[in-house]
Amino acid sequence: MSKEGRHTREEVIEAALGARERAVAPFSNFRVGASVETDDGRIFTGCNIESASYGLTVCAERVAIWKAISEGAKCFGLLVVAVDTENLTPPCGTCRQIIWEHCRDTTILLVNLKGETEELQIKDLLPRAFDARYLKEISRDEVVKKK
Ligand code: THU
Repeated sequence: MSKEGRHTREEVIEAALGARERAVAPFSNFRVGASVETDDGRIFTGCNIESASYGLTVCAERVAIWKAISEGAKCFGLLVVAVDTENLTPPCGTCRQIIWEHCRDTTILLVNLKGETEELQIKDLLPRAFDARYLKEISRDEVVKKK
């Protein structure tokens, strides 16, 4: 068991590496795997899935997080991102927003196929993030008044 959750780091890393094998990346050939360990001891995986309409492509991280959330779990332990790059690849800007909103306290672990790793926190990747707190500052009444 890892200090983060119920699985060892190695198990969560293996899951991300396995997911990377399933990447659907015919346009970029940039294969990404992700895995997230949830509060109830499950591991969900994701891979990037590209579309011929490029903008519809979805990143591995979001696939993993949405799978977890849609199955009733919350991110808890580790979020692993596996890419075969020398410079370990961090989550893109869109994924950072989603990670902030759903996995704020989750350790992000970047890995490559050489077994190199780097640990990150989302608060450092997305300082002064936008989230639901700001939406609450504008009350319902004000929204109605402005109409
Ligand atoms: N990609 C991810 O899956 N995660 C990231 O955080 C960075 C980018 C994917 C999207 C696209 O399929 C490919 O990598 C190249 O951008």
